[in-house]
Formats: sequence, C-alpha cells, structure tokens
Amino acid sequence: MATTADTGIAPADPGSAVGAPAERREGRQKVTGRARYAAEHHLPGRAHAWPVAASVARGRVRSVDASAALDLPGVIDVLTHGNAPRLAAPDDPVLAVLQDDRVPHRGWFVALVVGETLEAARAGAAAVRVAYETEEHDVTLDAGHPGAHVPEEANGGHPARREQGDPEGAFAASAVRVDTGYRVPPLHNHPMEPHSSTAHWDGDRLVVHTSSQGTTPVRTTLAAMFEVPEERITVTAEHVGGGFGSKGTPRPDVVLAVMAARHTGRPVTVALHRRMLPSVVGHRAPTLHRVRLGAGEDGRLTGVLHEVVTHTSRIKEFVEQAAVPARVMYAVTDSLTEHRVAPLDVPTPSWMRAPGEAPGMYALESAMDELAEALDMDPIELRIANEPDTEPDSGKPFSSRHLVECLREGARRFGWSRRDPRPRSRREGPLLVGTGVAAATYPVLVSPSTASAHALPDGSFAVRVNATDIGTGARTVLAQIAADALGVPLDRVRIEIGSTELPAAPLAGGSSGSASWGWSVHDACTRLTARLAGHTGPLPEGGLSARADTTGTADADSPYARHAFGAHFAEVAVDTVTGETRVRRMLGVFAAGRILNARTARSQLIGGMTMGLGMALTEGSTMDAAFGDFAESDLAAYHVPVHADVPDVEAHWIDEDDPHLNPMGSKGVGEIGIVGSAAAVGNAVHHATGVRFRELPLTPDRVL
Ligand code: MOS
Repeated sequence: MATTADTGIAPADPGSAVGAPAERREGRQKVTGRARYAAEHHLPGRAHAWPVAASVARGRVRSVDASAALDLPGVIDVLTHGNAPRLAAPDDPVLAVLQDDRVPHRGWFVALVVGETLEAARAGAAAVRVAYETEEHDVTLDAGHPGAHVPEEANGGHPARREQGDPEGAFAASAVRVDTGYRVPPLHNHPMEPHSSTAHWDGDRLVVHTSSQGTTPVRTTLAAMFEVPEERITVTAEHVGGGFGSKGTPRPDVVLAVMAARHTGRPVTVALHRRMLPSVVGHRAPTLHRVRLGAGEDGRLTGVLHEVVTHTSRIKEFVEQAAVPARVMYAVTDSLTEHRVAPLDVPTPSWMRAPGEAPGMYALESAMDELAEALDMDPIELRIANEPDTEPDSGKPFSSRHLVECLREGARRFGWSRRDPRPRSRREGPLLVGTGVAAATYPVLVSPSTASAHALPDGSFAVRVNATDIGTGARTVLAQIAADALGVPLDRVRIEIGSTELPAAPLAGGSSGSASWGWSVHDACTRLTARLAGHTGPLPEGGLSARADTTGTADADSPYARHAFGAHFAEVAVDTVTGETRVRRMLGVFAAGRILNARTARSQLIGGMTMGLGMALTEGSTMDAAFGDFAESDLAAYHVPVHADVPDVEAHWIDEDDPHLNPMGSKGVGEIGIVGSAAAVGNAVHHATGVRFRELPLTPDRVL
C-alpha cells in the first residue's frame, strides 16, 4: 500500500474521498521542478523557432528578406507564406498562419525562424526584413461605431438580442430609475506559462507536446489542417501552467511547431514570448455597457435593459456575451438584453475566465448598487427583493439556487450589519474606508466524455481519461471521484490524464472539466465495480476493465436552469492623497453544488476572486490607435495583482444537494470566483468615497 507521502492526504476510508481536502498529486513534482512542460521535451536534434510578428495593423506582406537571418550562425531556415507547407483551411481562422500575404492585425505572424538554439532563432527573427503594403486601420471602439451591429448570436449560442414585454415603456414608467454606463477595458489572460509546443514527425506519425486546456480538440484540429488521420497523431499536455481560456483552443504556436518540424525534418519547439501573447492568444474584448434599471418604491424591478457594445477582429466574429447574466439574475417581466459587435483591425478576442459573466456582472451588479442608493435601500435587501421563482428569461425552474443564502451567510461572516450605509462615513486619517457587496453567477456546463477503469491484480486501479490539469487539481479530483465509485481508499487509485492516447475527453473550460470528465470516470468505475462483484477468484493477468461514454447523457438538454451562484463582499481603503485603492478584505460565499475537493476548490475560488481584484484595480489594456495594437504587452505594463496587493481572501460555500446535475452533484468552481468580485470592490470604493467610478480599472489617476 502506498504511503501518504506518495499521494498526499489520502482518506483511508472507502467512500469518503469526494469532498476531502486531498493534496494535489503532482504538487511535489511541481515544487521540485520535475514537472515537465511542453517546451521541456529535450528530444535529440531538437530545433527552436521564433515567430516574426507583423509591425503594421492592416495590409499585405510585400516581401520578406531573410538573407541576413540565414547568414547568422545557427539559423536553419526561415518560413514565410512563400515557402511554408500549405495547410487545409482551419475552422478557426486565427490558425491559418503563413498561408497568405494578408495582415489582419498587428502582431499577426508573418515569418518563422528555425534555429539550432533559441538564441539563434531569436537573433534570426530580429534580422528578417519584412516590407508591407499598408492600409488604413481602425482599432477604436466606441458605442456609436458605424460598424457595430447586432449579430445572429453572442458566444455560447445565446441569442444576441432578447426582448420581453415592453422594456422601454416599463422603464419610463418606473418610480425609480437608474440609467448608467460602464466600460471594461480589454484584458489579457497572461498564464504563468506562455503558450508553447514541441512537435516531431516520426515517419508518418506526429507527436506533439503542447500547453493546452484540452488535447483531444488540438488533435482534431491538427488532423484536419495537416490532413493526417487522428490515429497517427499523439498530443500530450502533461502539465500546463494556466490558461484562463487562452489555451482553450489551439493557438498558432502548435501549428507553427508542426509546420516547422515537417519543413525541417527536426523536432521543433515554438515557445511564444510573453510579449506576443496579447496579439495571438486572444483577449477579453472591451465591453461598453448601458444599463437601465427601473424599480418601484419597494425595490421590485419593473424594467431591466442591459445593452453591450464590443469588438471583434476582421477574421472572426467573437461576441463576448456580457448581457447574458441579466437574463438569469433578477425577477422582471419587461427586459431587454442586447449585444452589438464592431469588427475592427484588432487582434481576435477570445475566451477569458468567465467570458460574458465577468464583465456583464461587473456592470449589472454595479448598477444594482446604484439602484440601491437611489432607493435608499440596503443592497443585499434589494437583491433579495428581486429573487425570481424561475429563470426570468427562459421561465425554467432552477435546479437549485441559493443566492439568498450566500448573501445572508456572507453578510453574517463579513459583519455587514455593523456597516454605516452612508457613503464617506468612515475615515482613517487620509484614508476613506468602505465596503461593498455584489452577486455572482455562472452557468453549469457539461460535455460528453469517455473514460476507462482497470482493476489490476495487485489490488490497485488505473483510471484513464484525457482530462487536462491546467493547475486546478483535476488529477486529484478525478482520483477522488474514482475512489468513491470503486469503493476503495484514494491511494489505491492511479489516474492517467493529459494525452490523446487516453480515452477522448473535452477541454478544461467553462468550469465544466470536473463534471464532464468526472461523469465518465464515475460511470466507468461504477461499471467496473459491477464487473468485479460478478467475478470470483483471482483477477486474470491483465486485470479487469470497463469503459464509459457519456454521450447522450451528459449533453442532454435539461428542463432546469442550472447555474452556480455566489455573493462577494469587499472592504477597501482609498488614499485621498495618492488615489490608491487597497483591498483590505474579500469574502465570498458560493453555492456550487457539491464541492469535490475542499482544498482545490478553495484555491479555484480565491484565485478567481484575486483575478477580480485585478480586474477592479490594476488590469487594463489600451488599444493604441496610431500603432493599432495593445500598449501593454508584458507584466511590467499589464499589472496583475501581486502578493502585496492581495489581502485576506476568504472563500466559503453552502452545501447544495442538487439531483439535476451529474452523478457527483457538482456545478464547477473554476470561474464563478471572478464573477461579481470586481463589482464588490467598485461598490466598496463608492461607499468609501461617495464617488461612482464607471470605468475599470480603478487606478490612482482615475480615482484621484
Ligand atoms: Mo475558460 S474562459 O471557460 O477556459
């Protein structure tokens, strides 16, 4: 039997693994530097490649002069649209690199230098001379942009526009009205590990190690683009240093690595420099919000209108679904939720943690705070007064909804009753101190998955599923689910993830990983348990196995509206001399179904809350109109919160027993922590100062 040193805290009692604060199985490997990442596969003869990024915002490549680069020692070759392998057109246009001369945005890759070393490739890239035919570019989003239109759909398949009743009329007739606007700037994912891939061709077999949230879809994409059957491609992602959505889809690094490996016959690593990320791995698109809330004197909402304007690139329509949470949150019969999108000459936006909900709930929950002030009502009581019986937009019953409990429990833990509701009522020398609250929501998503479970003659179990652990603790949680379904102690279960050689599975995204993979793991282990129960005598040499495929169960449409909910509380101190806002306390209470691992769930929640702190106070990207690109491209300019910025953060939860989810009863915790947290901080800043700031982030220059 393995010791606890091998497996972390291992509940010894069968059936008790799920929920326990089991330690990460790969934690020791990570902290000792032995965990291997995609760029760290030191294959014999491996070359390195460095991309050349377009220096114009719109136009065509007229010529590429690679002669100086090719003269440098250690440079192997330079790929351009003139000589790079021709690929089948990808579903995702951001992957069509080096296929033609078009430059759709600044930072688009126009060449790739392959070298014996990283240094040689980088020096070569600096020596490549690219001439462009430039065209006028437009990268500036404003609410009245003539290109802004209502698309067919916003992301996630949501209708771009929904109108119920007579929202304009109901709003105009409301006793109390708030008509307000907010701006969330472009935001960058910036995972610790920038995107990187190592590829090599072994005869007609392709092996790829990539930093991705899901290698099953990476393999599908590569198979289509390089016209190689999936069976001849292996893609692994053993360890991934974060993604936050930017690694949810394949990125140009993996295509370039495979391309360069084919072109040179060598294994090739493409590790993107952090400064390249903002242009080629997606960003959270800026959102301009107009929110109108009408209410009666009793605080009951009589009209809700949430209109969002955002941008996308010229090559892909990506519509941040920021008005969608207003369809979920509060009881109202007359409502309008609308998205408009303007295609601009900007890098293509993409998924970033809680896409839609994070910016949308910043706006909605800030507006609710403004309404509470206009009504002279406690902001918690205002939310409770508008608690719906069914999901307002769909009319479906909620599978479970404990928002009120989260608000009440959070208020109790935070000490809300001691708050003087008057703005600017707490002063400590030059500091103004305030507190704020906001609600959170995130949908429950799930995708079909497959898994296998194997009982081995030595009494241990192997469970296989191509899940990806992007830093969340997925390995550990899946082992917990398996242990309980098998009815064995946690340390008897070995879990194998992170390779397309394992049963196919969806990506780590949409807070759906544990639910999707866990469902198939649960089913495979349950079947194996049944097989073992029917088996007498010793196991055959190869053991006994069972497989599961949740297609048809996990993707079934539910008659229930399924969402996680939560409540955020924040205390801030605003320095009236420097304009600096410091968060002193953050406290969140969440209702997210059954919590599968108390330790890793807490990490997910406080990680999300910390990202919300960054969204509120420090993170923001500026589109430079002249250059046509983001001004902040590295961590010196794009400020994520550091330890000194992050105070006491508490995450708590309310146990929910929801039978309408999956066999584990879980909802997912990867994203809800960021949703609403920026609004809680902003509302606290208003309470501290008496001033309502409506543009993020709340940097000293804005606050002063
Ligand atoms: Mo997350 S933005 O759903 O990968």
